[in-house]
Amino acid sequence: MNSNIPIHGGNITEEARRLGVKQSQLLDASASLVPFPPPKRLRRYLFQALLNNSLRNYPDCNYQNLRNAIAAFHGIEPSMVLPGNGAAELITWSARNAIEKGVSTLVAPGFHDYERALNCWEGKYIYVNLPLNWSCLSPQDIPFSPSTNVIWITNPHNPTGQLWSRASIERLLTICDLVICDEAFLSLVPHGESQSLIPLAKDNENLIVIRSLTKLFAIAGLRLGYAISSAKRLQQWQSWRDPWPLNGLASAAGIALMRDKDLSKQWTSKIHKWLQKEGPWMYNKLEMISGIKAYPSSTNFYLIEGKESLLNLQSDLNKRNILVRDCRSFHNLGENWLRISLQTKKNNLRILSAIKTILK
Ligand SMILES: Cc1ncc(COP(=O)(O)O)c(C=O)c1O
Repeated sequence: MNSNIPIHGGNITEEARRLGVKQSQLLDASASLVPFPPPKRLRRYLFQALLNNSLRNYPDCNYQNLRNAIAAFHGIEPSMVLPGNGAAELITWSARNAIEKGVSTLVAPGFHDYERALNCWEGKYIYVNLPLNWSCLSPQDIPFSPSTNVIWITNPHNPTGQLWSRASIERLLTICDLVICDEAFLSLVPHGESQSLIPLAKDNENLIVIRSLTKLFAIAGLRLGYAISSAKRLQQWQSWRDPWPLNGLASAAGIALMRDKDLSKQWTSKIHKWLQKEGPWMYNKLEMISGIKAYPSSTNFYLIEGKESLLNLQSDLNKRNILVRDCRSFHNLGENWLRISLQTKKNNLRILSAIKTILK
């Protein structure tokens, strides 16, 4: 793949340099974080952690308090939880297990990081194509079957935003040696938790669920995620990996966020309300713009498709300091596609107005 094509959104340092502007001038709709600053209370927790010497001391390399807090949050055993340096780290270790089981099935288009992780261990994989004509039904059944014994699922799917039904993924557990389910965006989706595979982890040793706190709390810089799987598997990962993959501040923030039930309840309800109101509104507005087709999504990003290349639209949006996700790195998409993450009403209006003006 051409190395100039971005494989992730949200690289605002590089984009600001390229466009000759300050980072603060950019409206970033290329990464799919919620469009609010992280919760204020989180800053207080981080400050407390600084006062408690989290900067000076090594973190507990077992992250026991964090494991306990995450386990209590989900009602599972702490031994079934492994915190990581973002979901990305746990994707790397999942790939280490995947290669032991054979060839992986990846979904096209899909999140590029699974390929990165498999390549890191020289693993083999094939792609199964996702039909590019989905409905707004949510949840929907997975419209593909794996032809190998390992499958990687993203729920909801990135970049399409489709929410898969738990029942349709559960079926895969009976036919695959390993199912890796990345639920990085699931907590953002209203009623999404009812499709989570976490309740199935206890009875299915061939399941790895990966979660991230990045998107929900807008804390991409902190690097905080966790895996839920069998205690045996997670102990092995722990023995392979660096002794302290999460820094002390991330660990303290994670403990506080998972223990503070009021905060997570209020915050999640705010995010669900925003998504339920703003999401369908944005989708309808995008659908009305001639020259592009908008696709429905259960979560906080939307794919749009042009009859022709949308690269000019992307670069004209960039000139207006708006970043959207270039889709050329997604298999089966290409330069006719862009992904736009949902913003606050004011910024959604800014994006819509810019698209309309440019396409006129
Ligand atoms: C589907 C998916 N999983 C995982 C990640 C990485 O999450 P984290 O920031 O926790 O490493 C991303 C980031 O874009 C993602 O889109």
